[in-house]
Amino acid sequence: MKNIEAIVYTSNTGYSEQYARLLGEKTNLPVYSLSESGAEKGTSVIYIGWLMAGFVSGYDKAKKRYSVEAIIGVGMGETGTQLEAVRKNNKVPGSVPVFVLQGGFDMNKLKGIYKFMMKLMVKKLKKDYDGRTDLSEGEEAIVDMLYNGGSYVNEKHLDKVLEWYNN
Ligand SMILES: Cc1cc2nc3c(=O)[nH]c(=O)nc-3n(C[C@H](O)[C@H](O)[C@H](O)COP(=O)(O)O)c2cc1C
Repeated sequence: MKNIEAIVYTSNTGYSEQYARLLGEKTNLPVYSLSESGAEKGTSVIYIGWLMAGFVSGYDKAKKRYSVEAIIGVGMGETGTQLEAVRKNNKVPGSVPVFVLQGGFDMNKLKGIYKFMMKLMVKKLKKDYDGRTDLSEGEEAIVDMLYNGGSYVNEKHLDKVLEWYNN
């Protein structure tokens, strides 16, 4: 088991928070939002943030305050994808594991610039997926989110994180 003291998260529409709480239940670690600064400075944490154009939101702030031992990005994309891009974009050191989990998407929960950005992105992604018949389960989920919105938060997506944590 890793020497981690807490889980800290940033969530815009709630899906990353759901993963933080699920992981908290599985590990018995306390869970704090980054904004409430509940964990003391220097605490060893797993950091969870929603993915915004490949960036894990809040990570820059989190790494200044905490010792981030693992980073989890929550996005629309499939669990286990975007890993190299996330590592590179966020300048995550090689010693820190990166995980990506499929969360959820709901246009109605977005406001302002985020809503504007996602309207463009949804249009583009719908075109990319249009007519494809070879979709994986995770890609089917993306298409469903694009057209209907919804949550794909599921504890099965935490398997790799728990495998790492328990070893
Ligand atoms: C502006 C914007 C950019 C996004 N960029 C990505 C992305 O790069 N990769 C991805 O998988 N999902 C992306 N998403 C989808 C969100 O990460 C996804 O809906 C996530 O579950 C939101 O988590 P939250 O509910 O904790 O805020 C983006 C969403 C928004 C609004």
